[in-house]
Amino acid sequence: MSLVHLPPSCVDFFMSRVEGVLTSGSLAESTQIELLKIEVGSYFDDKTYVMPTSSNGTGLMAVLRYCSSELARSDVLLQANTMSGLISICAHGNTSIAGYIDCDYALMPTLKSVQRAVIDHINNGGIPDRLVVVLSHLGGLLNPDLEDIQLFLENQGVVLVEDCAHSWGIEVPAISKSLASVYSLYSTKAVPAGEGGLVVTTNRDLGDWLNRYVIYDRVEREPDFEGMNIRISEVQALLARAAIQGTSEITEGRRIICDRYFEAISNKLGIKQSELTKSQLVLYDPDNSYNYNGYKFTLYTAAQLSSLSKLDKQYRSSCIYDYVIDQKNITAEKGFLNTLTQIESHICLPTWYNYPEEKVQAVIDAVVALL
Ligand SMILES: Cc1ncc(COP(=O)(O)O)c(C=O)c1O
Repeated sequence: MSLVHLPPSCVDFFMSRVEGVLTSGSLAESTQIELLKIEVGSYFDDKTYVMPTSSNGTGLMAVLRYCSSELARSDVLLQANTMSGLISICAHGNTSIAGYIDCDYALMPTLKSVQRAVIDHINNGGIPDRLVVVLSHLGGLLNPDLEDIQLFLENQGVVLVEDCAHSWGIEVPAISKSLASVYSLYSTKAVPAGEGGLVVTTNRDLGDWLNRYVIYDRVEREPDFEGMNIRISEVQALLARAAIQGTSEITEGRRIICDRYFEAISNKLGIKQSELTKSQLVLYDPDNSYNYNGYKFTLYTAAQLSSLSKLDKQYRSSCIYDYVIDQKNITAEKGFLNTLTQIESHICLPTWYNYPEEKVQAVIDAVVALL
């Protein structure tokens, strides 16, 4: 079944301009890319530099390459529950994984687990000046401890890179405390443009470096400067602009589905919506929905909701990673019990933009029947 839809206004935006792009005589490195940079930049308060890339992965790789070659920071701490591809992204960024950070409620590291991982690293001889922490905001929520984590890492002299693959459409907090935030516009992500990534940074030096890095050899540079073509074409930039134009409509559409699930669950359980939010049964708070883009609707199947683990696959969408990224090193014995428990005890319900009403109702009926 095809699940990815763009609002008609996005399709119109694209269709009414694509001929102009195709006949413009510039299919790369031209107006669409520049407009995309401006339009993405307008979502952020801080002075930002925006670099569109072929994917979130290549954007992260470039930022890590900057860390290793320009900042002499080659040690990375990664969170234990995220896309396994981050391991190869670190390798391509010329960095090595110095350790993993345990995840907790919301399937992301807490301030405490970041503190523990950084202090352990330092106690084992690691040097803060060489360290980068990469955090992934998962499931359409920002890491609940983000601001405290940013402050802690800043005080420790450790660089933070935010993997925002799931996070386009969330109201953005100040990003200047992180080196960069890297978004994904991949087809199944919160706001889809088929493929694509966006590196957003307030760091001018990184912004300038990225301008050179994404073009192999066009600009003057030292002979040993490593560049890589990870740009997108003008047509892809137009598609990205079209999708980004639909941000509010897509995220609103997803949140409306989340609200339906939330209301049905609270009614069935006889729990007030405000209590349900606090109950840690559901990872959703409609009163703080600006903090959320509706990318996933997550339910915990542990404790009270264990019957939900029987929910048929047809009524679910994929989990927020139901595996750890490094099975050899992320084990209960090595201190990752929280991560292992969290990933085993959640399920996600589908929140696709424009998901047909009868499908949404079928999910609600199936969930309610199990509660
Ligand atoms: C948490 C996370 N990080 C990074 C990525 C990579 O995104 P892209 O496919 O745009 O490289 C994904 C994609 O699945 C992801 O879920």
